[in-house]
Amino acid sequence: MVKIAISGKGGVGKTTLAAMLAYLFAKDGYTVTAIDCDSSINLPTVLGVENIKPMSELEEIIEERVKGPLGTFRYNPKVDDIFEEYSEKNEFGVRVLALGTIEKGGEGCFCPQNAFLRAILRHAIFKKKDVLLLDMEAGIEHLGRGTARGVDLLIAVIEPGMRSVETLRRIEKLAADIGIERIAVVINKYIDSEGAKKLIEEIERDAEILGKIPYNQCFIEADLENIPPYKLNCEIEAFERIKNRIVEIIS
Ligand SMILES: Nc1ncnc2c1ncn2[C@@H]1O[C@H](COP(=O)(O)OP(=O)(O)OP(=O)(O)O)[C@@H](O)[C@H]1O
Ligand SMILES: [Mg+2]
Repeated sequence: MVKIAISGKGGVGKTTLAAMLAYLFAKDGYTVTAIDCDSSINLPTVLGVENIKPMSELEEIIEERVKGPLGTFRYNPKVDDIFEEYSEKNEFGVRVLALGTIEKGGEGCFCPQNAFLRAILRHAIFKKKDVLLLDMEAGIEHLGRGTARGVDLLIAVIEPGMRSVETLRRIEKLAADIGIERIAVVINKYIDSEGAKKLIEEIERDAEILGKIPYNQCFIEADLENIPPYKLNCEIEAFERIKNRIVEIIS
């Protein structure tokens, strides 16, 4: 139904947004898959799932699946079984998995690990149905052109501040380079002010704002206590509005 990649600078709230959307879509009855694509893994914890083994650490399986006979190399290794086996469902049914570290081998890198992780992403994007949420690092290059075509919506999370307009431009350029057509913005940790209003005007000149999430200490407390924010009864109305807006724009 909808495949969403979430990107933005470090610490802006990508993982919080991914987890909250996963929770809200699942609550509405959608089948949700949430993938942590960040090399420092924390989405599983925020979704209440422990002990997930990152896909990048399945060395033996990667060897076996990617390396063919006589030194050949499979670009399309079989991963559907792995996908089920090394992911975990959380208490409200969200399937959670973690990619782990993607080696930065540059263009044309033949690392078996990268071929494997890309196959996992391709499987998630093209074979799984319903809602897919990808919690990405600031860079989204490792999606690759082919896979990026399957992404319906890239959400750029930014914090209020004129500097974040630059970040947004950078994300827009990256997205255009790999062929993601639809980008929308979420402003997180929002504090109402004249400056913030100016920022919104600036962004709205050429991008859609999906919503603003107020700055709320409750999320920091949840993080400190290492529990999912929906369990602390943090105010989640802003996330709900964003989820509804997503449903609107993709249907
Ligand atoms: N609306 C908010 N108000 C206050 N704090 C928030 C809000 N959203 C997220 N935070 C807090 O900001 C911190 C960073 O959030 P989060 O981990 O979601 O960001 P991230 O972009 O995924 O970070 P990283 O780049 O490290 O993966 C966390 O402590 C989180 O609880
Ligand atoms: Mg994160």
